[in-house]
Amino acid sequence: MPRVFSGIQPSGELHVGNYLGAVRNWVELQREFECFFCIVDLHAVTQPYEPRELESRTLDMAASLLAAGIDPARSTLFVQSHVPQHTALAWALNVVTPLGELERMTQFKEKSARLSSVPAGLLNYPILQAADILLYRADRVPVGDDQIQHLELAREIARRWNARFGRDFFPEPQPLLSPATRIMGLDGATKMSKSLGNTIGVLDSPEAIWEKLRPAMTDPARKTRYDPGNPDICNIYRLHQFFSSGAEVAMVAERCRTAGWGCLDCKRVLADNMIAALAPIRERAAELRDNPGRVREVLAAGAARCRALAEATMAAVREVMGFLAAAEE
Ligand code: TYM
Repeated sequence: MPRVFSGIQPSGELHVGNYLGAVRNWVELQREFECFFCIVDLHAVTQPYEPRELESRTLDMAASLLAAGIDPARSTLFVQSHVPQHTALAWALNVVTPLGELERMTQFKEKSARLSSVPAGLLNYPILQAADILLYRADRVPVGDDQIQHLELAREIARRWNARFGRDFFPEPQPLLSPATRIMGLDGATKMSKSLGNTIGVLDSPEAIWEKLRPAMTDPARKTRYDPGNPDICNIYRLHQFFSSGAEVAMVAERCRTAGWGCLDCKRVLADNMIAALAPIRERAAELRDNPGRVREVLAAGAARCRALAEATMAAVREVMGFLAAAEE
């Protein structure tokens, strides 16, 4: 069965962007593939973060993923730092990765521009991402479009390692794009992202969802209630496509174009549908939050399974690269 691997940072909440762009797709893929889903805490520490919050964010992300439908009976859910082979393989891949490729990564350029001192970890971030995938020799990687470049580099790294050591060992991982490759934030201008403060959290209360949607950006040409709008350039219309029925989506487009209703009417319908769609996730997450022992058990079982598979890959990598085997004590 083809193997699927994907990761998510515990750097903030599960929001509508990474939910629609990735996690909802993961839930579907579990039916068809052998899936590994990883909370990438080692990636999260490459940017400024609060150490006292990392543990609770990691647990919250695990609870959110389980609540969203990741099923530990079908998929392996684990925390990256619980499987030390991720960093071991990253080192082995480090020696075949061209520096120039790392320097031209868009995410590196964007993130490093915001920092006064750039840690090497931020530059090497995509090597660890390649290691995550290749450690399990996964060939399908469901991601949003912001990760496509990192995946191209992962393929390049796999090719270079195979060529350098004369083996066809690592498969070249392919992206699996969901229909929501890039969800824009409430500003309508940039990708929905916790660090940009333009998100709606999957676990937000109904009141919070409405408070956030109400002032969200729409077609700027609709200055008053009576100006007709263009739904094709409106982010609220785009969100309707994920949360509203086909009939509602058609009605929204028509009433926007004819100024049949105002943006607030349109947002209210979206808010109601979004609240209804997310309510079951929120309820399951609340139950899990009251039962952190259950979440930790799932993560422990996931890490144990991964360590066994990862060690088999690392044993082969060490042998191919010519390292002296450690003597048994
Ligand atoms: P991260 O944590 O930023 O995002 C997790 C997943 O959500 C997608 N995503 C979005 N999709 C559509 N619209 C948005 N606004 C949006 N925001 C986030 C991302 O594309 C991603 O699929 N480097 C990765 C994590 C990672 C990984 C991996 C992924 C580490 N190792 C191995 C795949 C395979 C990241 O920071 O994702």
